[in-house]
Amino acid sequence: MAEKLKIAILYDTWGEDETEPQPEPKRKSRKRTRRRREKHDREEIFEALEKLGHEPSYLVLDGTDKTLSTLAKSDADLLFNLTESYAGDDTKEMHVAAYLDLLGRVYTGAGPQALYLAQDKSLAKKLFKFHNIQSPYFATCYRGRLDHAEDVKFPLIVKPTSEDGSIGIDQFSVVSSVKELMERIHYIQEEFDSPALIEEYIEGREIYAAVLGNDHPEALPLIELDLSKLPEGMAKVAGTEVKWEKDTEAYKVTKSAPAEDLDEEVTSLLSKTALETYRALQLRDYGRIDMRLTAKGEVYVIEANPNPWLSSNSEFFMAAKKSGLSYTEMVEKIVELARNDRRHRDRLRDN
Ligand SMILES: Nc1ncnc2c1ncn2[C@@H]1O[C@H](COP(=O)(O)OP(=O)(O)O)[C@@H](O)[C@H]1O
Ligand SMILES: [Mg+2]
Repeated sequence: MAEKLKIAILYDTWGEDETEPQPEPKRKSRKRTRRRREKHDREEIFEALEKLGHEPSYLVLDGTDKTLSTLAKSDADLLFNLTESYAGDDTKEMHVAAYLDLLGRVYTGAGPQALYLAQDKSLAKKLFKFHNIQSPYFATCYRGRLDHAEDVKFPLIVKPTSEDGSIGIDQFSVVSSVKELMERIHYIQEEFDSPALIEEYIEGREIYAAVLGNDHPEALPLIELDLSKLPEGMAKVAGTEVKWEKDTEAYKVTKSAPAEDLDEEVTSLLSKTALETYRALQLRDYGRIDMRLTAKGEVYVIEANPNPWLSSNSEFFMAAKKSGLSYTEMVEKIVELARNDRRHRDRLRDN
């Protein structure tokens, strides 16, 4: 086993329990409707770190000044960074990583650059174009101002440019007429105070590629979210119902599993596309790339997720498991990648 490290699991609790008072979000009219799945990855990571012989602890970053100074004083050798927001604002995810950089700390997952590039889906798509990574044609607009427009064709999907966890995405996100399109743009702007990303809707299989590594990142076996059993007439998208609303039919009839019946050529195209995306957005240690595969065998990148959900029922672990890793080994790999990353190597203090 590698040497024993003090590892603090850094996390935020925003959106976890809506019955408890939450800090007032700093951004006006931002709504967080997200509900977490039952298992917290932080508890499973804690157990895995103990099994590996490390000394884990928890460090919550709830957005008060005190937690920032506690973090600055932490004597942990490494931080397992699970934060997704700061003070109820999920656009501040990147600032947490930047703060860790300023403190000179070693931490797992993406740096602020990758968090910035991946969070703004429209910016990420512009980068994809440069790297010849296929992604749906799109337009972005905000309160009458057009940022970018391609000649998009119906059906379209309308989403907030900078959210995750399917916030703002549901069965009504897919639109087939100008009226529906305008209504949905209005909804995204009003509800989320966000520019609307209008993308061509790609009919096809929903494939996720987990990627692990830095100098030589590796795409793990592909996972598919089977949306084919969604009720008749419901758009085949992984919206909030599918991801979070346990009591709905949509949640119950959809499940992720290792992708089957993909031939070698398609598998390698999906994996290659995921790796190109991972590199283009400068993801680090681990990430998950969400793609669509059409009946013709074309691959479209839908989005990249730095620091994806790591619980034992996550797609990321499903892929790691299929590749032969146990949960503990997956956690070990991420810790080792963070420790050995070029940018971090010199920071690790001897103790
Ligand atoms: N252009 C698209 N074509 C087809 N389905 C899409 C498209 N964009 C999003 N979706 C569907 O909506 C889901 C959520 O979109 P995504 O951009 O990944 O949002 P989030 O960041 O909230 O996960 C995707 O997993 C997919 O099912
Ligand atoms: Mg997604």
